[in-house]
Amino acid sequence: MDTIECIKTRRCKRNLTSGEIKREIIEGIIDCGRLAPTANNIQPCEFVIVNDRKKLLKLTEIVGRNAPFLKDAVFCIIIFAKDVKYYLEDGCAATENILLAINNFGLSACWVAGDKKEYAFNVAKELNVPSGFKLISIIPVGYSDKKPDIQKRKLNEVIHWEKF
Ligand SMILES: Cc1cc2nc3c(=O)[nH]c(=O)nc-3n(C[C@H](O)[C@H](O)[C@H](O)COP(=O)(O)O)c2cc1C
Repeated sequence: MDTIECIKTRRCKRNLTSGEIKREIIEGIIDCGRLAPTANNIQPCEFVIVNDRKKLLKLTEIVGRNAPFLKDAVFCIIIFAKDVKYYLEDGCAATENILLAINNFGLSACWVAGDKKEYAFNVAKELNVPSGFKLISIIPVGYSDKKPDIQKRKLNEVIHWEKF
């Protein structure tokens, strides 16, 4: 899949089904996250992988109505960033790189909110994250063949030439 096709076909999918996903694929996905741009090249992100069913259920309980579909994931990536000035921008760049890599590997996922959420502390506690880190996002990964019917604003509605 080429880059533009990968960007254009990525969608958040919440109806995940199980299946096998090899460790090399998981590592390939995280590798794309680690290579995202970061302000001053600080590279503040850490990526926690959760495969264990019991742990996935516990996370689903903690996150609650934001992501009931988390329990159906084959595995889940939880992104944390050191609390530096641009932690959120850096963490979001890593999140999008990861979502694109997931799409490239023919897998499905959804961006679940982290920063600013009331469950951020409990997610970090559950995963033994040391203090000084912010929860950026939670990414449940699995298989899905459903095409979500999501409307996007058209190019001519958002593009502004020379002035707004
Ligand atoms: C910062 C951020 C937080 C999000 N949090 C959630 C969430 O908690 N639960 C969820 O189901 N989707 C969440 N989403 C996914 C959005 O709902 C989704 O990206 C949006 O509807 C557009 O659909 P698309 O990703 O298929 O283009 C989040 C997306 C972003 C960028």
